[in-house]
Amino acid sequence: MPFKDLRSYIKRLHQEGELQKISEEVQPVYEVGAIIRRSYDLRAPAPFFSNLRGFPDARIFGAPIGLSRDKNRTFARFAISMDMAPESSPMDIMEEYLRRIQKPIKPVIVKDGPCKENIVVGKEVDLQAFPSPVLHQGDGGPYIGTWHANITKDPDTGVRNWGMYRLMVHDQNTMGGLFLPAQNIGIHYYTKYEPRGRPMEFAIALGTEPVTPWVAGTRFPIDVSEADIIGGIRGEPLELIKCETVDLEVPAASEIVIEGFIPPHERKLEGPFGEYTGFMAADRAPRPVYHVTAITHRNRPILPATCMGVPVDDSAVSLSLTKAANILGELRQRGFPVRSVYCPPEAVSHWTVVSTKVPYPGYARHLAHAIWGTGWGRSGWYLVIVEEDIDITDMGQVLWAISTACHPKRGIVQVDNVPAHPLLPFLSPEEKAKHLGAYALFDCTWPREWPKEAMPVKASFDNIWPKEVQDKVLRNWQAYGYKDGCNE
Ligand SMILES: Cc1cc2nc3c(=O)[nH]c(=O)nc-3n(C[C@H](O)[C@H](O)[C@H](O)COP(=O)(O)O)c2cc1C
Repeated sequence: MPFKDLRSYIKRLHQEGELQKISEEVQPVYEVGAIIRRSYDLRAPAPFFSNLRGFPDARIFGAPIGLSRDKNRTFARFAISMDMAPESSPMDIMEEYLRRIQKPIKPVIVKDGPCKENIVVGKEVDLQAFPSPVLHQGDGGPYIGTWHANITKDPDTGVRNWGMYRLMVHDQNTMGGLFLPAQNIGIHYYTKYEPRGRPMEFAIALGTEPVTPWVAGTRFPIDVSEADIIGGIRGEPLELIKCETVDLEVPAASEIVIEGFIPPHERKLEGPFGEYTGFMAADRAPRPVYHVTAITHRNRPILPATCMGVPVDDSAVSLSLTKAANILGELRQRGFPVRSVYCPPEAVSHWTVVSTKVPYPGYARHLAHAIWGTGWGRSGWYLVIVEEDIDITDMGQVLWAISTACHPKRGIVQVDNVPAHPLLPFLSPEEKAKHLGAYALFDCTWPREWPKEAMPVKASFDNIWPKEVQDKVLRNWQAYGYKDGCNE
């Protein structure tokens, strides 16, 4: 059964040993962030803070889909969020995700829901009533939104976009945030609302059932409804409820909902912030301003929080898994004989690794350009293409492929002047300003134009010994005196 709300997900994490309840008093300024960050470093359970200094009526839930220490269930939290077995491998998760997004399910509108337990509108609105953490030293302010859905509407089509864009509290009723022009919200605001001199309505859903935030953080085409995708992944429609002051809908079981509008041409300084790349790379800069007209919330609301920085944090987990799955789905649809795609979370979704059959000479470059041409693959600044016998979830094997099959000159293909964004630490200040970067392909496939006898032969247990010798060695492994690893 899919989770109805964040509370039932938290309960399940607790049952699975994936939650650490913290009743010791903690400070929202720095201490909460430091604990979440250390939980990533140790791959410890997700911290749940119930005693926040100055905020007796609120809780914070950190590291919602962080990795687990147990090597047999590294992606347990993500798998549980999809109601899958905690032991599911990243490949199992990706295949299941691809199956479920094929069957989107439309949301239903309900008349009442937990998010309406408290309704505050107009002058009574106070963002500072919530324990927004100052996560990293050097952050521009407290961030209320780090793991949520940011909902806006295309003024021409009416299609809603659910994205995830950070939110810094400026004061009692305004917030600031970074949204890049190429993001769907950026297209709504910078190319539709602002040029027409119109304010853009928004709704922020914080503390929803667990699929919503990571789907919001996944790039879907602008005409695709993320609410339908979330329904498909859950196998059950999301229950939405109408907002109080804007013409938008939010998950009815949200912990906190913030409504309002972003006026055209208004800017206020926002940032800096510890970002998904593991650096604070974008400056404090003038950015659009969210004016809050209403806040509705559950009693004793739970604010979800991720503390982005050096990988692996929640953003690296979700961006990597969903991106790899979406690229794989698109390549299959287009008939490329790929076996699998993986974006190792340690590479913060900047690496795309692909294993594939190689049907013709020049194929790897053909495939590379197809991947960069997808919406998901365009932010894969590093692309590694390997033969299909490489296990691409094993970075040891990928490193071996790069070190042996990739020609140091001909195998590395660089493409200049491709779309990029200013958060990339490796870009020069000029490139950041122009939103221009570069791609690199590491082609680790054997050139099919080589004569057959020139093809290197893999010297592995399963490739270079006669089958009967392999079978005998496996059969007799314990007889040789070894204690484990037998008959695997
Ligand atoms: C934890 C997290 C925080 C993010 N913060 C931002 C942000 O502040 N600004 C931004 O432009 N993208 C941010 N992203 C990336 C977008 O959410 C992502 O690109 C998503 O596809 C945007 O939705 P859209 O495709 O509907 O535009 C974040 C992603 C995650 C997982």
